[in-house]
Amino acid sequence: MKSKASAPAKVILFGEHFVVYGVKAILCSINKRVTVTVEKTSERKIFINSKIGKLVLEPDKSIAEIDSPLKPFYYLANKAIKNKDIGLHIEIDSEIPLGAGLGSSSACCVAGAAAIFKLFGEISKEKILELAIEAEKTIFENTSGADCTVCTYGGIMEYDKINGFKKIEDEPNFQLVIVNSNIQHSTQSMVSKVQQFKNENKEEFSKLANLESKLVEEVLKLVKEKKTKEIGEKINQNQKYLETLGISNNELTKMIKIGQKSSFGAKITGSGGGGCIFLLTNESNLQNILKEFKDSNYECFSTKIDFQGVNTF
Ligand code: PMV
Repeated sequence: MKSKASAPAKVILFGEHFVVYGVKAILCSINKRVTVTVEKTSERKIFINSKIGKLVLEPDKSIAEIDSPLKPFYYLANKAIKNKDIGLHIEIDSEIPLGAGLGSSSACCVAGAAAIFKLFGEISKEKILELAIEAEKTIFENTSGADCTVCTYGGIMEYDKINGFKKIEDEPNFQLVIVNSNIQHSTQSMVSKVQQFKNENKEEFSKLANLESKLVEEVLKLVKEKKTKEIGEKINQNQKYLETLGISNNELTKMIKIGQKSSFGAKITGSGGGGCIFLLTNESNLQNILKEFKDSNYECFSTKIDFQGVNTF
């Protein structure tokens, strides 16, 4: 018997990095997915296969000893077959670019948890999220949990570490364009970089976190009022805060400059240092923006909000 699950990528609209320190963020999931297929095997081995490589290991290995980006899948599989005389075969198929700030690893953890544990009985979204965050922590200990939450529940939501998530029910009337710098980044090292900034500039960081918090509250009102142009201005403002944290670079700054000229607003999404930026626009301007970036040889696409979250089938 095969078990299958898929989970969406995400965009952090506001509040990345600050969310690690308790500030509220606004996120949405988008229509690019990872699909995980799992099957029980009689041989007691964990076999994981994806485009980025293979991992074949005996169960019960220490997680700290495993040096592979597929480690979260091993963690989940090992937990699921504990005290059972079976193995698992896991196949991963993803349309989400890797290391690009679109939540590829969180979507993998969510789809992985859902597909693996569904083999052993029905599983709630709440439990999937709990397992996914545990798995994500094997590669990124300080995760805020925001990415896994939006990949699980889908849609557009506010999130903070203490209160969890609250869905935003007003369906936005804007369009998003994603542009990829094609520079891979590591979330862990970008979060460490911001931690260092915070340690060296305590007062400035605290001022920025307060400004971000205020900005997010203002955006929540603007989303209700469907004021796209004003939301765009807040996106540009948030980008300035991210630049102060030091997570931009020449390439991203160049992309942001093009984006801010042609849209309502543009900023980095995710941990920065590479990865993607996103632009806020409307239907009438969409094709012009895509053409402008494509003419400059950037990989870009327009995207829609995914309202499903994790899906098992
Ligand atoms: O770059 P990504 O997709 O891994 O996003 C990380 C978001 C951070 O706020 C920087 C970290 C977190 O855990 O929320």
